[in-house]
Amino acid sequence: MSDADLGLALPLPVPSSELQARLAVRRSAPAQALAGPGPSPGEIERILLLGARSPDHGKLFPWRFVVMGPERRAALAGALAPLADRQADPGKARKVLSKLTAPPLTILVVSTPIEGHKVPVWEQQLSAGAVCMNLEHAANALGYSASWITDWYSYDPEAVDMLGLVVGEQVAGFIHVGTLAEPPLERPRPDLTAKVDYQP
Ligand SMILES: Cc1cc2nc3c(=O)[nH]c(=O)nc-3n(C[C@H](O)[C@H](O)[C@H](O)COP(=O)(O)O)c2cc1C
Repeated sequence: MSDADLGLALPLPVPSSELQARLAVRRSAPAQALAGPGPSPGEIERILLLGARSPDHGKLFPWRFVVMGPERRAALAGALAPLADRQADPGKARKVLSKLTAPPLTILVVSTPIEGHKVPVWEQQLSAGAVCMNLEHAANALGYSASWITDWYSYDPEAVDMLGLVVGEQVAGFIHVGTLAEPPLERPRPDLTAKVDYQP
């Protein structure tokens, strides 16, 4: 899609039992279990394109991507290691750094809301979350597993600085992408009777 496609009539949804079946068993991967093969450069571009096609009040596109390959992430994990020692549980904080180095591809989604805009910051942040979810769907559609995580280094001010975020920006998620050797295990799912209020 390009500017030339603006106003183009897009296809209406059609029932797809295949898509329903995929969504019914959709499951994130444990990030540290993600290994190669990972997406090719062309597939990465496709994943980004599909992920960026997400709802966004005001057409502000209040997010940006940092595509991190293995070199950048190894350097980052090394630089973050000393900061792990000042976290509440230093052992665990160091251990989770392996989630940064294991997967073949990581897309850092940065929320970049505009303060004082008529579209509330909360809604702009929700759009970044929607992008994270759609990146996972896109990775799955190309046959890869994915994991959306944050971890302590998304909140430690010095770590956030190392990630290259500026004032007003926040980590929406690290989307790790790769291949699992073993299928993921089902986790608890909400009881919808407690979550849904049908109002005729
Ligand atoms: C915003 C957000 C932040 C998350 N941060 C972490 C994290 O720091 N560490 C972690 O192990 N998992 C994290 N997760 C992943 C969840 O713990 C869990 O693996 C995931 O939601 C599983 O969902 P699914 O099985 O429906 O795919 C995060 C998920 C979301 C949506």
